[in-house]
Amino acid sequence: MASTLIKNIKLLAGVRDDNFLLKGKQMAKLSTIDDAFLILQDESIAAYGRMYDFVYRNSDFSRQVDAKGQIVLPTWCDSHTHLVFPGSRETEFIDKIKGASYAEIAAKGGGILNSAKKLNEISEYELFHLACDRLDEISKLGTGAVEIKSGYGLSVEGELKMLRVIKKLKEKSHVSIKATFLGAHAYPLEYKDNHQGYIDLIIEQMLPVIAHEKLADYIDVFCENGFFSPEETETICKAGIRYGLKPKIHANQLSLSGGVQLGVKLGAVSVDHLETMNEETINMLADSDTIGTLLPTAAFFLRMPFQPARKLIDAGCAVALASDYNPGSSPSGNMNLVIAMSCIQMKMSPEEAINAATINGAYAMGVEREVGSITVGKKANLIFTKPIPSLAYLPYAFGSNLVDKVMIQGSFI
Ligand code: NIG
Ligand code: FE
Repeated sequence: MASTLIKNIKLLAGVRDDNFLLKGKQMAKLSTIDDAFLILQDESIAAYGRMYDFVYRNSDFSRQVDAKGQIVLPTWCDSHTHLVFPGSRETEFIDKIKGASYAEIAAKGGGILNSAKKLNEISEYELFHLACDRLDEISKLGTGAVEIKSGYGLSVEGELKMLRVIKKLKEKSHVSIKATFLGAHAYPLEYKDNHQGYIDLIIEQMLPVIAHEKLADYIDVFCENGFFSPEETETICKAGIRYGLKPKIHANQLSLSGGVQLGVKLGAVSVDHLETMNEETINMLADSDTIGTLLPTAAFFLRMPFQPARKLIDAGCAVALASDYNPGSSPSGNMNLVIAMSCIQMKMSPEEAINAATINGAYAMGVEREVGSITVGKKANLIFTKPIPSLAYLPYAFGSNLVDKVMIQGSFI
């Protein structure tokens, strides 16, 4: 068996002997070891400690990596993306610069429907290769686990095409991937005045095939004015639950949509976005086991108010951070930028942001037993930074790429 010694690590961050979802104040503590070593057995973490306590012989290892001056931390767990999409939408970006809002673009048949039109025209092969390139890009930026949603098909064939692409990505990539069925992302034009007809299509035609082919782990609905009402969201989520899918909900992006209350009621894994929150929804979330997943680059890109991270954490919520990588509201899957924005604009501490983007992100997509921390037995999915003075330098120097190397399952990519 191959064993690897990583020695002279300036700072090993995200070390945990235990494994639990961090809520409220717990998020502020990120365990670190100065001047550390890390031992890998094949693709997994086998041991770690201080160089001072290093008792092994160099000949015990088949590979050695000198991480002098570098900070090593677990790779990012990006628990909310739409990275399978057919093409960019910078024409709408220009429209937004000229004053159109996200909701106005959507109401005119742009936005999600624009992507859906293109998706139904492109081949599964082409779609797969576009997604592969994006996955490759984000893994080089430090993402080692990612959740990917469907939701640009909005037809039986289109949704299945997307989910089959995600399944193929799972098979091909060493990055941990979870799939979410988001057939309820928008009403297709032909169902604009026949909501029940599209809901029936989701429940009777899409879900049975998805369950049979094991194409999804989660079910998601865009619960928002002009998209899916809380009642419609509940019907669709409950159908997904009957097929073994756990709910995650797009909630409170543009308004107090009722999505948070519903997510808590259904025991959703996470409610995501949360640009628009009030005291009631914050407290309700804090009293639940549902994770609040914040997507600051989406708020930034749409010029929306940033998510009230401070209020959420201070109230005791479990917060995760994700990129929302998609062509309409966050054409970036760069988790380093997400972390920087969370610190700069949402006043999260660097420790809180890193926890939210690693261990809590792992919980938000059910991969907490394999990734999200430096823990014996977990996968050796590691970020090696360039030489930097401290952990806080990561969000501070927000415009620089400070990721030197990324290791996924024990191999540098
Ligand atoms: O999470 N808000 C809904 N869905 C995506 C955006 C999708 C799109 O505009 O293509 C989001 O922001
Ligand atoms: Fe999203």
